[in-house]
Amino acid sequence: MAGSDKINITPPRWLLAELTYACPLQCPYCSNPLDYAKHSSELSTEDWKRVLLQARKMGAVQLGLSGGEPLVRRDLSELVRHARELGYYSNLITSGYGLTEERIVELKQAGLDHIQVSIQASTQELNDHIAGTVSYEHKREVAHLVKKHGYPMVLCVVIHRENIHQMQQILEMAEELGADYLELANTQYYGWAHANRDLLLPTREQFEQAEAIAQAYKEKVAGKMKIYYVVPDYYEDRPKACMNGWGTTFLTIAPDGVALPCHSARELPGLDCPNVNDYSIEEIWNESKAFNFFRGFDWMKEPCRSCDEKEKDFGGCRCQAYLLTGDMYNTDPVCSKSPNRYVVQEAIDSAKSASLAPGEKPLIFRNSKNSRDFA
Ligand code: FES
Repeated sequence: MAGSDKINITPPRWLLAELTYACPLQCPYCSNPLDYAKHSSELSTEDWKRVLLQARKMGAVQLGLSGGEPLVRRDLSELVRHARELGYYSNLITSGYGLTEERIVELKQAGLDHIQVSIQASTQELNDHIAGTVSYEHKREVAHLVKKHGYPMVLCVVIHRENIHQMQQILEMAEELGADYLELANTQYYGWAHANRDLLLPTREQFEQAEAIAQAYKEKVAGKMKIYYVVPDYYEDRPKACMNGWGTTFLTIAPDGVALPCHSARELPGLDCPNVNDYSIEEIWNESKAFNFFRGFDWMKEPCRSCDEKEKDFGGCRCQAYLLTGDMYNTDPVCSKSPNRYVVQEAIDSAKSASLAPGEKPLIFRNSKNSRDFA
């Protein structure tokens, strides 16, 4: 563990517990690592309880329970109960697949605060195609049950070229399901989404048209349903402040116990991400090489180093810089000040020409067989 004595380290606020990589769905935009199948071990219930306790002691208040599909874990309610006792605000991030009324009641009694259900499209045919699993009707039922049991209805739809034409219908579906919040999350191109980018990235015209529809709907349902539209950063000219700055706020624990400053960090070379089986959360957060790697500004190259916006966007996303330029120290190439901005334009052009030749290359669905091919 390498120490850092010159940077003011703030405590983690958000703990994302990726309980498992197992998932009954096969979404081709999943942010899990392509080679997740080789990380098949999972922390035990007692390990997770220890992690929750240690992170809470450091100041974490928000807990995300995700995966894979967190419902696969039979000890989910036990972990939720533990989180409640520790004083977390807990949020289940689920596909809804396999969620029954009985389980919703059990989770409610355990103290779960919030459930976010994802749905893939506004029609059964497209939803089931993208999910790789027949799940549309069940997801709709789950949405009703979530509402029935007094949870705010939070619906998440990941947007990409296969479903962006349904924007109006997706909004109508969310309203009909009684959603209090609708997150329209344009795909971020990491993991499986990066592998499928040519087939998932919409054109600028498609994106602008969809955004206009969403904005108009936002006004129509103001006060009734809140709509969050997460913009696709390939069409921005400044990068996102990824993770609110490296090692400042977010702590992710992968199913096998590897602690990550962001969900994609295990793909970055030389970080030696530590495991909660070997170190305490305090040691990991304060002293590990991985969490100190991009803290502060000293690691930056130009143009970030002398940029007057560096305290706002922290140079953008390290994983995106690595994926797109091969050098994780580079400015996120989404930034128009980056000398590598052209790689984003190349990606947009490549996706556009792929869209002219539909069916030439099939989507790679996220499942263990395909994952083993990437291992
Ligand atoms: Fe890793 Fe942005 S996803 S730094």
